[in-house]
Amino acid sequence: MTTETMSYPHVIGEDRTKNQETIDVENKYDQRVLGSVFRGGKEEVDRAVAAARQAFEQSQLTPSERGELLRKAAELFSEKKEELAQTITAEVGKVIRDARMEVDRGIQTFLAAAEEAGRITGHTVPIENQKGNENRLAFTIRQPVGVIGAITPFNFPFNLTAHKLAPALAAGNTVVLKPAEKTPLSAMMMVDLLLEAGFRPGTINVVNGYGHEAGDALLRHPDVDMYTFTGSPDVGKIIKSTTGIRKVTLELGSNAPNIVHSDVDDLYEVAKSCVEKGMMHNGQACISVQRIYVHEDRADEFLRYAKEAAEALEVGNPQDDDTRVGPLIDVKSAERIEAWVNEAVSGGARIISGGRREGAIYYPTVLTDVQPDMRVVCEEVFAPVVVVVPYSDIQEAIRQANDSRFGLQVGVFTKDIDLAIHAAKKLRYGGIILNDVSTFRADTMPYGGIKDSGVGKEGPKYAIEEMTDEKIIVINAK
Ligand code: SIN
Repeated sequence: MTTETMSYPHVIGEDRTKNQETIDVENKYDQRVLGSVFRGGKEEVDRAVAAARQAFEQSQLTPSERGELLRKAAELFSEKKEELAQTITAEVGKVIRDARMEVDRGIQTFLAAAEEAGRITGHTVPIENQKGNENRLAFTIRQPVGVIGAITPFNFPFNLTAHKLAPALAAGNTVVLKPAEKTPLSAMMMVDLLLEAGFRPGTINVVNGYGHEAGDALLRHPDVDMYTFTGSPDVGKIIKSTTGIRKVTLELGSNAPNIVHSDVDDLYEVAKSCVEKGMMHNGQACISVQRIYVHEDRADEFLRYAKEAAEALEVGNPQDDDTRVGPLIDVKSAERIEAWVNEAVSGGARIISGGRREGAIYYPTVLTDVQPDMRVVCEEVFAPVVVVVPYSDIQEAIRQANDSRFGLQVGVFTKDIDLAIHAAKKLRYGGIILNDVSTFRADTMPYGGIKDSGVGKEGPKYAIEEMTDEKIIVINAK
């Protein structure tokens, strides 16, 4: 156990609550204990939801005041940028350049939410067009849903927490947050800075702990109005079945496909980008490049470049500026992907690069000669592994890309605009990225999938729509 001062208590209204037991948070590279959080459960969740409800009922902030506080918080994050990035790198194992980018993105997410706070509108509804309603006037307004339960994942502990807290607060809701127990430290720093920015106690509450304890208690609490979750499809299904008819936004997994057509000009750049973005965040992003469908005329050339790009990636200590791939979240995850790759190789897959593990580190791996039912193809790898599959006909590439239970984002590389639009219409994904990889995300764009990739959208404007109730007001003008 670590010293008392390094333990983050739960944040419940004005209280900083502790339990007997703590959960240590380790540096994912060297397993040093970085700090700890307390292990909360039903009792803390009950109190946190009550504090959030009370704060919601008493909340008097105008949209512009909420925007101001969000902007102030973004300023405080900027002042602590390096400390936040170092914390993310240590607690996730994400390389420092990706962690710095994550903090920058989190700041942008808060600034975008601040802007959106002042733009929450309904619309007029032309019911007077209908016979008998000539004298009526109708319009909608949007109001905060109330208390939001937010459950966040380990892979982007700062920016994905930002994508939940910033729009929730911009819309005037209050929140009970349950951060990922493996990576809660940067989220706790965020919450402290939000409170320092001036959000009133009770507006943002945090209960740390395990999913089956604190998370479960939050999901079962009857006074939570909406849930927002990023994580695995399995947990997403539990959330949907536990929360009944309450609102949910679920951002779940994917095995993101990317189609590289025969007509691309700079195949080297495309291959490099596919490999680098497959390995970024150590492959632990829901939109990481995973399946790469390459036209057969260019497949050999693509594989040569992909090997070169994978082997050029520095592997090791994520704190070093030059490192591009660090450890996975734990040894178990690295052992899992090692088993999946070995299983694929036994089934005839060929390793072009990588295919080895050292502790929690899995080396950037490019595979080919894979089959659709191999787990490295049909499941979400969530590790630095990509598979390259040649195709002869674009319809076949689209069919294979769609042959997935997931549907988050897909990348398509081609110069042919007709083909690009045809593919965009046929691909069953929430986001189609033309001439860039599936990994592209601007934090202001609508982000969310179909099928097992989830329901609802993130991106401050769209999350605010999810986190508000639209009411119709009808005036009988006589
Ligand atoms: C995710 O893993 O869903 C988030 C990816 C991102 O925000 O870049």
